[in-house]
Amino acid sequence: MTTLRKALRTAGTAAAITGAVGLAGIGYAAVIERNWFRLRRYEIPLLDPGSPRLRVLHISDAHLTPGRRMLLDWLRGLADHEPDFVVNTGDSLAHPDAVEPFISALGPLLERPGAFVYGSNDMYSPQFKNPARYLWRSSRADYSKRTVPDLPWRELGTAMTDAGWLDLNNRKGVIKAGDRRVAAAGVHDSHIGLDRYDKVAGTADADADLRLGVLHSPEPANLNRFAADGYQLLLAGHTHGGQLCLPFYGTLVTNCGIDRRRAWGLHRYAGTWLHVSGGLGTSPTAPVRFACRPEASIIDLVAQD
Ligand SMILES: [Fe+2]
Repeated sequence: MTTLRKALRTAGTAAAITGAVGLAGIGYAAVIERNWFRLRRYEIPLLDPGSPRLRVLHISDAHLTPGRRMLLDWLRGLADHEPDFVVNTGDSLAHPDAVEPFISALGPLLERPGAFVYGSNDMYSPQFKNPARYLWRSSRADYSKRTVPDLPWRELGTAMTDAGWLDLNNRKGVIKAGDRRVAAAGVHDSHIGLDRYDKVAGTADADADLRLGVLHSPEPANLNRFAADGYQLLLAGHTHGGQLCLPFYGTLVTNCGIDRRRAWGLHRYAGTWLHVSGGLGTSPTAPVRFACRPEASIIDLVAQD
């Protein structure tokens, strides 16, 4: 009897410790790491010999809801890094009232040259689902029955284009960064089947100082076409770096066709450079990050030797 009582007490203690550790982990992921922003820095020798540095700020996946004050304050401070131009790879919104605070936080960044594409979450509001479900299926199927966007994506786009940023949703154009010309092309979000690469297909302008491809989801079918058309740097988001990662293992799933080793960061891809942002935010239905801090990136493009 004494032995049984001891065993039960040991099991109870173990369960209590496990529960406490689990709660502490969730609290850390929801309160601390979700607001523990990181600026990543990269340097790529990509420009013609003798060219001065060209600094790109890449932001993505803010998934903004009003009241995310720490996120808004950090975003506002990114202008201090004085980028030559800014690229937003989408999923900026997660609430009907998020446009004004997002645009306000961009603030002085909108006075600089920039470009953007949309993500599915700029168009469709978040719907509750089992946050662990992404481990075994893509969220792409969640959009199959949603045909009418319910978020103010047009107002978001208008605010950015009114500031002079280039709309790259199935479009191409030139970003003028000082006296440098960036030949840019982009596609709308392939995650909801709105990408139309054929509309921007063709050899990139070889006379430009930089040839830039922009897309929300790093889907290999589009990445390969950008690379084949001569775009030197591809910028994408969408993956959130996995959002919930395992220490010493990394990203579990990417929620699209890119392999998990290239779920975030700077990589070589089909002879070009690919940078995937781990993103600034989280889905409001899964407001946690673990071993995957929210981020933005400064990418300094410098002259080749
Ligand atoms: Fe996202």
